Amino acid sequence: LREEDPVPYVLLPDGQYAWMITRYEDAVAALKEQRFIKDFTKFYEEDMENADLFSKNMLFADPPDHKRLRGLVSKAFTPQLIAGMRDRIQEITDELLEEIAGKKNVNLIDEFAFPLPIIVICEMLGIPTDDRDKFRIWSNSIIEDPNGGYDEKVQQHMNDFVQYLQKRFAYVRENPGNGLISQLIIAEEKGDQLTEQELYGVVTLLIIAGHETTVNLIGNAVMALLEHPRQLALLKNQPELIHTAIEEALRFNDPVEFSTSRWAAESFEFKGKSISKGDLVIVVLNSANHDPNQFKDPDVFDITRGKSRHLAFGKGIHACLGAPLARLEGEIAINSLIQRYPNIKLNIDKNDLEWRSGMIVRGVKELP
Ligand code: HEM
Repeated sequence: LREEDPVPYVLLPDGQYAWMITRYEDAVAALKEQRFIKDFTKFYEEDMENADLFSKNMLFADPPDHKRLRGLVSKAFTPQLIAGMRDRIQEITDELLEEIAGKKNVNLIDEFAFPLPIIVICEMLGIPTDDRDKFRIWSNSIIEDPNGGYDEKVQQHMNDFVQYLQKRFAYVRENPGNGLISQLIIAEEKGDQLTEQELYGVVTLLIIAGHETTVNLIGNAVMALLEHPRQLALLKNQPELIHTAIEEALRFNDPVEFSTSRWAAESFEFKGKSISKGDLVIVVLNSANHDPNQFKDPDVFDITRGKSRHLAFGKGIHACLGAPLARLEGEIAINSLIQRYPNIKLNIDKNDLEWRSGMIVRGVKELP
């Protein structure tokens, strides 16, 4: 596609058509294009009871709301503040690695890659980490619905989730603390900064982003290293290569395969295609990250590739807010894992690994 038809109009599994952007340069242009907007309610009626729970946040907002919503939490995600979390993240990592000590068979997703980012984001938000299994079920169910519709089970999970948040918000209003939820509730109580729906939207986005992405960075990076034993040996001997190793893992095996949806605010020509007002546009991040015009030998996994301009965290105003956190978690997780367990091996044929369904996140269900 990248060579012959780089912007195809494709029928998606949910019955919608979308323009797919597959080349690196086109992807950057699309992610920065102001005429591709997020607020689809400008074109289409919203018919889902709980849709606002997800849609009222920065990822689904356009300027000026986008800046206001992102601004409310961005201070908590600056590289400096995140760097201050290094010791705590190392401590959680070491505890999780200690818990699997002596076990012959470990599902690395359930026992390591998943709990680490969850514990971190729950602590940041001020949510009891004991509730993390409930969140996992809810957030997996919400993000993975294969038909794009909302069946009964998903609806039930969404309702349970809303009820949980309602109770949590009520508790935090009575017992304010240091967590991000407290800060957002203060902003909401001031009235003009954040509506109640936006409070749900932003917290939900952070919970989902904390649950569904970094787990795949860790899982996909481990897989890439196990498939490339020389690269793994290099990293074991030179742990300082971890920064470029994580960047390469993000490029090579994107944890987020497709961008979220954008809609054309007006009809216009984009990369030779006539896009009509209201058309859906999706950037194929994983394809852009394997574009030979941008990356030499793109299908080679090389942890010494150096600073790479991959698009794993997106680009433009919606570029990932959690990138410094995800990078730090990934670096600590991978280095600690391979130093502590230098002989780890995949305990299943690679072809038997089961991949998660759903279009946006890319990762395996289990990593034995
Ligand atoms: C946005 C990837 C981890 C919070 C995005 C986008 C991508 C992405 C590609 C842009 C989507 C688009 O433009 O359509 C990733 C990857 C992660 C990761 C690969 C892990 C390896 C996180 C974490 C958090 C987070 C840990 C926070 C807890 C966000 C937020 C946005 C976002 C809030 C929306 C930003 C905006 O619209 O201004 N992420 N993400 N992400 N991410 Fe991440």
